[in-house]
Amino acid sequence: MDFDGKNRPYWYEHADTTNFPHLMENASCDTAVIGGGITGLTAALALSQAGHDVILIDLNRIGRGTTGHSTGHLDNHYDIGLTNLVKYFGLSAARTFIHAKRHAIDCIEDWNKSYRLDSDFQRIGGCYYAEDADGVQAVQDEIDAANKLELNMTACNTAPLPFETAKAMCLPEQARFLPMVYVLALSRFIFLLGGRIYEMTRMEDFHEQHGKILIETTHGRIEANHLILAGHTSLTGKLSLQSRIFPHMSFVIAAQVEDEIEDALYWDTHEPYFYTRIASTQEPRLLIIGGADRQTGDDKEEDPFQTLEAYARQRYRVSAVPSRWSHEYFTSADGLPFVGRVPWADRVYVAAAYSGDGLTLGTAAGLLLSDIIAGRDNPLAEVLSPERVKPGVAGPKVAHFVTHIGRHFVKDRISHYEYSVEAIPPGEGRLIKIEDHVHAVYKDAEGKTTVMSPVCRHMGCIVHWNRFEQTWDCPCHGGRYNCYGHVFTGPPRNPLKREPAKVLEARTALH
Ligand code: FES
Repeated sequence: MDFDGKNRPYWYEHADTTNFPHLMENASCDTAVIGGGITGLTAALALSQAGHDVILIDLNRIGRGTTGHSTGHLDNHYDIGLTNLVKYFGLSAARTFIHAKRHAIDCIEDWNKSYRLDSDFQRIGGCYYAEDADGVQAVQDEIDAANKLELNMTACNTAPLPFETAKAMCLPEQARFLPMVYVLALSRFIFLLGGRIYEMTRMEDFHEQHGKILIETTHGRIEANHLILAGHTSLTGKLSLQSRIFPHMSFVIAAQVEDEIEDALYWDTHEPYFYTRIASTQEPRLLIIGGADRQTGDDKEEDPFQTLEAYARQRYRVSAVPSRWSHEYFTSADGLPFVGRVPWADRVYVAAAYSGDGLTLGTAAGLLLSDIIAGRDNPLAEVLSPERVKPGVAGPKVAHFVTHIGRHFVKDRISHYEYSVEAIPPGEGRLIKIEDHVHAVYKDAEGKTTVMSPVCRHMGCIVHWNRFEQTWDCPCHGGRYNCYGHVFTGPPRNPLKREPAKVLEARTALH
């Protein structure tokens, strides 16, 4: 099963596909890795290099989850801002965190060179900028925090962009690359080093027995000494972290422009922020522009792709928008990822909640987990420990999301509905309410309807129709289903329950 949304990333045109087998029998290894994104592949390659026997499984194909939908920014800034990083976590932890991001970019560069990868890795600058006076203080705060962290940066009055800007912080030695090409190459080198990779293989459950971790998959069991949970949401009901991470969607367009912009990473002070880079060395006038983030399942009318296109057209001479896509990411309650040993098991490790920085933090997490398993010290372990408690930071944000999730458990049951199947345009889905019963209904291009229960199979929230990707998205923990109700990402294990179409007819007749 490939990603089952409507849109495909620009990168897909430039990357091969993999064809690793399904796991069809029982197997054993030192370390089992769940998830073929940048985190799992980095950990698997680092462990394979150190001589560990590794099995990696992925529900899908390698790189086809969030990694393949990301935008290939590699920077040592961070989503919550350097100011907040220093304020909430202290200078020492902030330095450790930023150093780990820088080290992750160095690692990606090293592997690109040593394995001769063709991922168009380029060292370029990064530029955080304000467009007008409203954002100047935010940039100044980041400059002050960068100085405290002794980060190499330059304060500038403007950014090198073809529209007016009011202040900028420019960071040298950031980078860009083609994420799909990179992770597919990592998978090949893991295989060459003896690692075993199985695609289209789902972890159903795991438990400890006689000092081993037993991982049940779709068609076979893996016995391992260590288990790394590095999937998009590998967080099963066993992990209390699930209530401390929150799902969001980010949207991206590729815009062909007539302007020439300096090859750098750009992100602004908007909330949510817009981020821009050139697509590749060969296509310097194709800009990858992201932003318009919202919580998963937020079905407000505003079209995020139109927001991005309008943003692009107001600032660049746009001749075409050949590609658009979206991706889901997770934030944690206190803003930092959770990476390390899970609190209740000795040899089970998790990596989650990178905010919008999944490529550098996924790499840092993969390296950290390989260090922990190999018994090497890594100062990042304490900073990102899943056992940390930061109530001062977590309080208001957790309260906000608990309210948000609580609303979806309760209020969703009484609002946002259509009242007849005729109201659904062909190729669309809607929640239909007839009498007191709610149904998730998808109508295909020929008008054939598929009727489902809208109750998420994870913990019972009501799914929402995502008309931009034609998926059913769960606002609570980020579970996502395709238009026919089949799970393609997130914690749910089972598809939305089918209901016979005649249920609707009977209820409509009674109505
Ligand atoms: Fe948890 Fe839907 S209730 S993903």
